[in-house]
Amino acid sequence: MSKSFLLIIAFGALVLGLFIGICYYVTNLSGGGGHGGGGDTGGISAEVGKEIYFGDGQCSTCHKVGGEGSATRCPDHEGVFATAFERIKETGDKSPMEYLVKSIVDPQAYIVKGFGKIMPKVFNPPIMLSQEKILAVLAYLQSLGGDEDIDAIMQFKDMIPEAGGGEGGEEIKPWAPPLPADPVAGEKLFFDINGPAGCVKCHTIMNKGAKVCPDLTGIGAVQLPEYFVESILQPSAVIVNGFETVYLVDIDGVPYSGIIKRDTETELDLAVDEGGSEITIYTFGKDEIEEMAKQDVSMMPGNFSEMLSAKQLYDIVSFLVSQKS
Ligand code: HEC
Ligand code: HEC
Repeated sequence: MSKSFLLIIAFGALVLGLFIGICYYVTNLSGGGGHGGGGDTGGISAEVGKEIYFGDGQCSTCHKVGGEGSATRCPDHEGVFATAFERIKETGDKSPMEYLVKSIVDPQAYIVKGFGKIMPKVFNPPIMLSQEKILAVLAYLQSLGGDEDIDAIMQFKDMIPEAGGGEGGEEIKPWAPPLPADPVAGEKLFFDINGPAGCVKCHTIMNKGAKVCPDLTGIGAVQLPEYFVESILQPSAVIVNGFETVYLVDIDGVPYSGIIKRDTETELDLAVDEGGSEITIYTFGKDEIEEMAKQDVSMMPGNFSEMLSAKQLYDIVSFLVSQKS
């Protein structure tokens, strides 16, 4: 008798267990039920997202949000959610959130007019944001010109890869240069104005150097070694926004080629590389300019493959890789 009683209890427990299990499974499938916020979306809020945007996510190395941040390489994210309504007329996305998700998951799919293809996949190295952190950043972007709607974000959860999970999720190996490279030697080359590299003639790192061309402080935290190799060997392949080369002829017929450093109603400053150890800044009155056109060739020298040995190239690349803040 006691044996069958135990069996009934055991069977009852099994049925109950199955029932609980199925409920649990079903609520998980439907995204946590949605009442009371659930543990699922606990870390996902505009506030957390903002911290990631200006911290781990490194977004502010390239983007700024109105008055916060100073980067000019990339679109200003002030009111980005409202702007997204305009962008989707071009991209065909069904909602601004879908557009923002795609901008992050596949940044090269649509390039904002006037900007270069430099936006990295932030779930891959070196940034390596987790899926949850990306969802939080999306909540922050949503708060810039839109109303909070975490459910609208969670619909795209499955489109967002886990950290390092892009492109089939292959394992991430730390970068190894094809030959032994020395970041300290690279640093010397970078800052040696008389050496074969002379990067400091145009670039700044940590406030050292000429503030003519993009500031490379912290660049190792947002870009990969492959990007540096390409930037150095084929500078015209991708041109960073705001640093396009401009060809200008003044009213005396003298041609100049450089990048615009200041542009007011009446005057324009052009930074010109004349081959010496410093960049020359020319100021033109607007009425002294005869002709002006943008060019798709970078002002950065195109002959580093001849100027630098392979060892020197990888020394400099490993120095840039080490620039994490
Ligand atoms: C290395 C520079 C760089 C970093 C770092 C970077 N971005 Fe971008 N991002 C860009 C550039 C350049 C564009 C414009 C070109 C394009 O559309 O890809 C862009 C475009 C975007 C857009 C579309 C903007 C619009 O105005 O329509 C979004 C959204 C965006 N980025 C989000 C982010 C977020 C979030 C992060 C941080 C997790 C981030 N980006 C980090 C360079 C960067
Ligand atoms: C004569 C000026 C000049 C010199 C010298 C120069 N650069 Fe540049 N560099 C530029 C300009 C202008 C840009 C932006 C236009 C472009 O993207 O090509 C740039 C862009 C870059 C970028 C991409 C920056 C970004 O924000 O994504 C990297 C990386 C870079 N340079 C590295 C170097 C290194 C390393 C050296 C030295 C070996 C060097 N540059 C020497 C002018 C210069």
